[in-house]
Amino acid sequence: MFRGQHNQMISLIELKAYAKVNLFLEVLGKRGDGYHELVTVMQEIDLHDDLVIEEADSGISLTCSDSSIPTGRDNLIWKAAELLLSRYKVSRGARIRLEKRIPVGAGLGGGSSDAAAALKGLNVLWGTGCSDQELMEMAGEIGSDVPFFISGKSAVCSGRGEVVSPLLFDKECAYVVVYPNIKINTVEIYKNLRLGLTKEMKDVNSFLRVFERCCPVNIGRCVFNRLEETVCRLYPDLLKLRNILCEFDFCGVQVSGSGSSLFGLCERRCDAEKFKEELTKRCSASVFVAHSVR
Ligand code: C5P
Repeated sequence: MFRGQHNQMISLIELKAYAKVNLFLEVLGKRGDGYHELVTVMQEIDLHDDLVIEEADSGISLTCSDSSIPTGRDNLIWKAAELLLSRYKVSRGARIRLEKRIPVGAGLGGGSSDAAAALKGLNVLWGTGCSDQELMEMAGEIGSDVPFFISGKSAVCSGRGEVVSPLLFDKECAYVVVYPNIKINTVEIYKNLRLGLTKEMKDVNSFLRVFERCCPVNIGRCVFNRLEETVCRLYPDLLKLRNILCEFDFCGVQVSGSGSSLFGLCERRCDAEKFKEELTKRCSASVFVAHSVR
């Protein structure tokens, strides 16, 4: 059993698993292993799931507030626990409770973030003592977006997404996140991507020069997502929703990751609250206000 800072036994741990938005995403090409080589700037936002992990004598059990979410071996939390168990020959178990708030199939990284939180929490509970680097390597085996959530905040991610370079810029931005109650499968979006039509690649360094100055108005003008065209082509309702968001005075509007969520970047918190209220009246989507995690 792990002993905490004040020598107390830790047998239960509570964690927040934050969502992300992709402020920039360029696809550099298709790889031999079926994945796509990409470069993306991810930003953690304070919309979050909650995990409560309790040590048990043996076995893993997972329960979830949302009955539509699989709680067996298909769940990335389960995969994270099994990976840590087998790699470090842990002879303990865990009971995990997931309170789900991040929409599913939304391009907000909810499942990946849950898995990263499980790795971090179990590493403490089971006393496996992995460094962040070791956790990131295991995270990469679970999914391309999982390593980002080990360090979180904001980062440039490359490779298939698993090579993470944290950014140190420190300014809170406000977001309105709109989930149209459509679940999108990432595989479908990458499969339908028309890479050959890309005339000009966007340069992440140009985006980062703007991002480091932390001005939402300028960041909003430079947000970019190569997957957005494919998402809007396959889901015309999302294009309609995007057009509605563009009528508002956001600094920038974009699909997050492979969708289905859209986000609007705001200059001030009060703008985000105001836009949320108006958007809720105009469309049947779920609307959240969120802020960057720093
Ligand atoms: O890594 P992960 O399991 O999250 O990826 C899900 C799917 O998304 C992959 O099987 C692949 O089809 C697609 N993908 C991709 N290129 C990436 C990341 C994901 O083609 N960089």
